[in-house]
Amino acid sequence: MQSLESYDLFDPAIAEDPFEYYAVLREQAPVYRMPSGMWIVSTHALCLEAIRDYESFSSKFVQKMSGGAVGADGNIVGPETLLSNDPPSHTFFRKLVNKAFSPMRVRKLSDSIRVIAEDLIGKLERGPERFDVVADYAVPLPLTVIADQIGVPRTHLDKFKQWSDASIVPIGGMATPEQLFESLQLTEELKSYLAERSKERIEDPKDDMLSDLVTARVDGERAIEIKEVVSILQQFLVAGNETTTNLIAATVQFLLQNPDQLAWVQRDRTLLANAVEEALRLETPTCGMWRVATRDVELGGTRIPEGSMVMLRYAAANRDEAVFENAEAFDVRRPNAKDHLAFGMGIHFCPGAALAREETRIGVELMLDRLDGLRLAPGNDFAHHPNMLLRGLKRLDVEFDPR
Ligand code: HEM
Repeated sequence: MQSLESYDLFDPAIAEDPFEYYAVLREQAPVYRMPSGMWIVSTHALCLEAIRDYESFSSKFVQKMSGGAVGADGNIVGPETLLSNDPPSHTFFRKLVNKAFSPMRVRKLSDSIRVIAEDLIGKLERGPERFDVVADYAVPLPLTVIADQIGVPRTHLDKFKQWSDASIVPIGGMATPEQLFESLQLTEELKSYLAERSKERIEDPKDDMLSDLVTARVDGERAIEIKEVVSILQQFLVAGNETTTNLIAATVQFLLQNPDQLAWVQRDRTLLANAVEEALRLETPTCGMWRVATRDVELGGTRIPEGSMVMLRYAAANRDEAVFENAEAFDVRRPNAKDHLAFGMGIHFCPGAALAREETRIGVELMLDRLDGLRLAPGNDFAHHPNMLLRGLKRLDVEFDPR
């Protein structure tokens, strides 16, 4: 086993296979100051403790990382609404977003997901008997679902995908200055585009999520402003698209790599929901999230100084043997699979969790139903995009038997 100091979270080799590092962290230093000066928290219990103490562990990490360049109004990143915000302002935006993700909306979304997924499967059935699950299925599915909900016509999907990809470049921590500059330019285009779509829905509301968002009101509070809607929509794209793509691909990968588990799911389709939870736990598409210590604070017996950047490593917490027996194994019958932290917990718990779960469950079920003999194609290397925050396969080649 290597010494803790010899691991580097930003090293692409660690991003590819971080699990030994996580085990060493959990065992030797669950609250660890990395050589870079940033902290990493790796056990389930301590991640939860930090999440719950949101006054000591602030989510205003974008402000901290940009050296204070982000204020309340029109600046580099725009107004902070959800992911990188704290109460009381976070509470206001969160109530509005919860209205856009109402149980009624999510039910209606399930129907749209099925229609879009069936359309994609139809194309795959007619194509070659080998395809890339990531590019040909897991990318277009969530992208089309969300595009429909925010009024992006199908003819703009390619551009929308380019903008969506650009939005996540800055958060991976591994981009070159050129890539960062390009992503900033594309993000500005995206913001104007989203502002236009929002104005359309204010003037002429439709039966979609964006209309719910722009017309939602919180009792006794002001209406939401266009630039704030844009910030929230950007977060839907940044936090929602690639993560769901990665979850769909991971669920297919784990099922096809574990024929005994696949057989269980084939015999009892109700197990598929738990298979998705296991993929969330083991892949953890959002590997962790930043917090900033607002004061000198003790966590797990270690003192973290005020102003420190703290990475809550959900991917490490999700393989914690203290919570998950035989934690490295994919087990569709695991009774507590849902106890993972892949969607966070508490006040920032992912508002898109129900949507992501439905997209994955419906998407994978349709693949299993319609593509006979679905199996991994020879030659997969299961390599992931180099990114310290988001984990996702570059491609996943599969084969099936034509009907
Ligand atoms: C598999 C898919 C997804 C994963 C793994 C994921 C993961 C997460 C995590 C871990 C957080 C909490 C971060 C924290 O602790 O601070 C979060 C928050 C968030 N997610 Fe997701 N997410 C997914 C899908 C989605 C979707 C589909 C949407 C929207 C369409 C979405 C929108 C958001 C937003 C807006 C937040 C910020 C909430 C807040 O700060 O109150 N996510 N997500």
